[in-house]
Amino acid sequence: MKRAFITGITGQDGAYLSKFLLEKGYEVHGGVRRPASPETSCLEKLGVLDDVHLHQFDLGDSSNLFKTFGDNNFDEVYNLAAQSFVGASWDQPTYSADVNGIGVLRILDALRTVLPEARFYQASTSEMYGRVQSVPQNEETAFYPRSPYGVAKVYAHYITVNYRESFDMHASSGILFNHESPLRGKEFVTRKITSELARIAKGGSEPLLLGNLDAERDFGFAGDYVEGMWQMLQQETADDYVLATGVSTTIRDFVTYAGSALGLDLEWSGTGVTEKAVDRKSGNAIVKVSEEFFRPAEVDALVGDPSKAKATFGWKHTVDVKTLAEMMAKADFDALS
Ligand code: NAP
Ligand code: GDD
Repeated sequence: MKRAFITGITGQDGAYLSKFLLEKGYEVHGGVRRPASPETSCLEKLGVLDDVHLHQFDLGDSSNLFKTFGDNNFDEVYNLAAQSFVGASWDQPTYSADVNGIGVLRILDALRTVLPEARFYQASTSEMYGRVQSVPQNEETAFYPRSPYGVAKVYAHYITVNYRESFDMHASSGILFNHESPLRGKEFVTRKITSELARIAKGGSEPLLLGNLDAERDFGFAGDYVEGMWQMLQQETADDYVLATGVSTTIRDFVTYAGSALGLDLEWSGTGVTEKAVDRKSGNAIVKVSEEFFRPAEVDALVGDPSKAKATFGWKHTVDVKTLAEMMAKADFDALS
């Protein structure tokens, strides 16, 4: 039986990856920051909480990383832990740099010292492309990060490549484009949209307030992406791979898709901060724009090219963006019933 360790096991991807690896017959371990009262709702929702082994683990502290890896003979280590909300990285830039950047060095150094044979996955991100240098983005596209989060992730990406090349470690980096699910945190735009529209569809009167509706993202389903993470670690040679759908969608269109799944027929009017969406049937204002949710520097449009992952190990997405929006909106609606 293979043994895997997942940092960030309590997050969206950690829960989906736990379920995936358990179904493959793995013994699954994971790190939690607050062992006395871990936030385990994602693991509970997927019905896997009782099947995983939780260890105290914080990316900010080297000694507990050495202990965790020194005491346990893991075959695979997936680093999914991060301060993952881009918007918060301007408010907590040094913390984001420490956890998302130096934290990865702490893991790599601990693995190199006490568990050098373990295969390692780093959660890199399309946010590294930032102000994109070509369209679509692939493994060769230059990085131009636009947030403290993105800058820290570029460091993490290159230190992973460097340890692979310096110490012959099996260390791979998945450059993943946005992936969502009903387990997505409500601070991220897709889940904010589906949870708020569900509230409105249930009779709520306050409109949904959003920022930049013109931003475009390549949205996929998290369940598809965790399979790609595992596939990367099954390759004989470690490497870097993009996982994406190849389709870009504006935030405005994601709202329309989610609204439609809940019976809201949205009509958009206005521009910039005066833009709004009204339900054609009720005449109610459903969406308004608030400057509060704009970022100091924006990533305008991302769209990925996953050809390398497809050619190397056959990865492809199975859920398109409309189905994803419907899945998330209905899950939020049902949760209010
Ligand atoms: P998420 O739901 O926000 O989960 C993040 C996890 O990291 C949580 O379990 C959190 O634990 C943990 N964590 C935060 N700070 C930590 C620290 N100092 N030490 C140890 N654990 C810590 O994120 P996700 O969407 O699953 O994303 C997983 C990874 O993929 C992240 O690294 C993210 O940056 C990256 N990524 C995500 C996407 C995406 O679209 N989802 C795309 C590309 C890359 P708590 O429960 O204690 O908060
Ligand atoms: N969160 C949020 N809230 N975003 C909004 C809002 C709002 O009210 N209104 C518009 N947006 C826009 C943001 O400005 C951004 O352009 C886009 O919606 C997506 O924002 P998020 O959902 O917060 O995700 P992200 O793309 O910044 O980051 C996510 O994807 C990255 C991969 O590209 C996170 O999961 C990162 O951890 C991940 O690396």
